[in-house]
Amino acid sequence: MTPDIANNIVGNMTSHGATVQRRAARRTARKEVVVRTQVVVIGGGPSGLLLSQILARSGIDNVVLERQPRDYVLARIRAGVLEWGSVEVLRAAGVSERMDRDGKLHHLTGLAWGGERVLYVDIHRHAGLQFMGYGQTQLTEDLYHARDAMGAMIVNEAIDVRPHDLTSNSPYVTYRKDGQANRIDCDFVAGCDGFHGVSRASIPAGMLRVFERDYPFGWLGILSKTPPLPELIYANHERGFALASQRNEMLSRYYLQCPLTDTVDEWPDDRFWEELCRRFPPDVAVRIVTGPSIEKSIAPLRSFVAEPMRYGRMFLAGDAAHIVPPTGAKGLNLAISDVHYLSRGLIEHYAGNGSELLDRYSETALRRVWSAERFSWWLTTLMHRFPDSTPFDLRLQEAELEHLARSDRAQAAMAEQYAGIPF
Ligand code: APR
Ligand code: PHB
Repeated sequence: MTPDIANNIVGNMTSHGATVQRRAARRTARKEVVVRTQVVVIGGGPSGLLLSQILARSGIDNVVLERQPRDYVLARIRAGVLEWGSVEVLRAAGVSERMDRDGKLHHLTGLAWGGERVLYVDIHRHAGLQFMGYGQTQLTEDLYHARDAMGAMIVNEAIDVRPHDLTSNSPYVTYRKDGQANRIDCDFVAGCDGFHGVSRASIPAGMLRVFERDYPFGWLGILSKTPPLPELIYANHERGFALASQRNEMLSRYYLQCPLTDTVDEWPDDRFWEELCRRFPPDVAVRIVTGPSIEKSIAPLRSFVAEPMRYGRMFLAGDAAHIVPPTGAKGLNLAISDVHYLSRGLIEHYAGNGSELLDRYSETALRRVWSAERFSWWLTTLMHRFPDSTPFDLRLQEAELEHLARSDRAQAAMAEQYAGIPF
């Protein structure tokens, strides 16, 4: 590598405003470019971008390393329900303008079963909170815009990202970009690189305890430019689970439980709509407006937690540390609460106020994680048809749904979890 190339890379970094200092003298024999920041954030999904945004607004330098091109990250379709606590964190982070304008406030969520019953649980009446329908795809876009506006250093297409010396006081992260080897010295690493990322995988065997459960079915999801039903409705039907959700008044999101062996090719739009309508009670099904799908995909369901969410100077956040099945839409909300706790700890540290919050990060975040794991598992188990369900299991599902319908207290317990426990 020529000095020009190194200058160019470091020049790009500083021209983006990150106060990353050049250390020309530290160019090694492999001609790495070496720079320094305070926090290296691995992963530019919602967790990494939000953390980067909150830290930058508190004057903490950081660099985000993302393996994929930006377009790829922005094309991912994920869930779209924000707890009120998440809404408040996003507002405080200065990324809520479009969400507050275009997001849809909800206070009801529906549970349908038996082919005819629908119970609308009033989340606001029971938990005192509304929730916001707003797509993760839109939120990720908002985060990229906000980071760009502040001159953030986000490296897309960073290849072979690797954290090093995490248990020392001087960790660093290496990566390649356009064939150039780079190294960033830092104080802390934030592992925000999702379930398949390198952060968790870098922790030596024996230092992590993993808890997991797979579910014997997937969710086939579609987006369609059709007016959605006014409320979210989760349906337990003998043919399997279904969910009606939305992104805005002309964009619907629907899901069907399907075997993991199915492919999207086996689900042309006509088959999807026919099956969807069969799984909702007739008075709901008649209100579903069908149309061509603009996206269709199948995702497996998984519960997963890795403990602790820290290794030396690396902290895990979001899907890097835990996965919930999508029933209840807790994945993005947990990512936001992790980032909230982690950013508080880092801000306290850099303000010179000690490390108590950082030291308690894993324990604090995991309390909320396990609460959401339990709720997501419960709602998944209540609303899906398992291939090995016995008639006894099915009666238990019905009995629990009937109990919910009868009992204000049972609805309050569900509403409290759906709305999200306080941060
Ligand atoms: N190096 C750099 N980046 C990586 C690496 C790597 N080795 N591995 C993965 N990444 C990137 C991915 O390309 C992705 O953009 O890390 C990002 C992780 O983003 P997400 O998977 O969206 O995870 P997170 O930001 O924690 O967001 C959690 O996303 O999956 C949903 O349900 C989940 O809503 C929740 C939210
Ligand atoms: C969605 O809108 O994608 C969604 C909504 C609620 C869920 C899961 C996904 O529980």
